[in-house]
Amino acid sequence: MIRTENLGKYYTSHSHHEVHAVRDVTITISKNSFVILKGPSGSGKTTLLNIIGTLDRPTEGRVRMCGEDITSFSDIALSRLRREKIGFIFQDFHLIPYLATWENVSYPLVPLGIDIRKRFERAKTLLEKVGLGDRLDHTPEELSGGQQQRVAIARALINNPEILIADEPTSNIDEETGEHIVEILTEQKSHGATILVATHDTRFERVADVIFRLKDGKLE
Ligand SMILES: Nc1ncnc2c1ncn2[C@@H]1O[C@H](COP(=O)(O)OP(=O)(O)OP(=O)(O)O)[C@@H](O)[C@H]1O
Ligand SMILES: [Mg+2]
Repeated sequence: MIRTENLGKYYTSHSHHEVHAVRDVTITISKNSFVILKGPSGSGKTTLLNIIGTLDRPTEGRVRMCGEDITSFSDIALSRLRREKIGFIFQDFHLIPYLATWENVSYPLVPLGIDIRKRFERAKTLLEKVGLGDRLDHTPEELSGGQQQRVAIARALINNPEILIADEPTSNIDEETGEHIVEILTEQKSHGATILVATHDTRFERVADVIFRLKDGKLE
């Protein structure tokens, strides 16, 4: 489903310090597998997820998705691929502050021309699934960190993505809710999705098919 080949990412900062965030990473992720990515803070997990999730471009190497080399795709082709195939749960949520939770969740459906009634119904179902059925009209600032994280999870599921990428999806969440998030992601896998999660949460190890570990940007 996904293959990275000698993937690398350099950042050059204003102080001209070069950071080699990801180095020579070659991994294969099979369709319908549950893959977790571990590694200490700063080891390159978010950078790698962003590149695989088409939100960022590598400085070296390539990414193949469903047989296609997407490294050479235009920005428009990448955003289309993202819209159609990928659900992304960000480490820092990326919710739109002035929109209600249901509007945040259903936002990815707007460019697909789906009418507002259907968008609302679908968002409501997903918010109920993550235990926020009573927060449909709240804005993100009226929610706790863990609740915002669950809104971000519901939004990532709205397109029934073939590929679900989650960056530390349980980091702001209590035990019980965390367990529920593990269940939700596992359920997506049972519906055929391919799941890639960066996490320190050992509960994911029970359900993972493959565990990759990064250290200083390199695969261990
Ligand atoms: N936009 C950026 N500009 C410069 N350096 C960056 C940028 N983003 C990340 N880095 C650097 O790249 C390295 C990897 O960062 P990354 O966010 O991928 O780590 P991480 O494994 O996700 O860490 P954490 O567990 O803390 O989320 C770090 O050294 C970080 O400082
Ligand atoms: Mg990170």
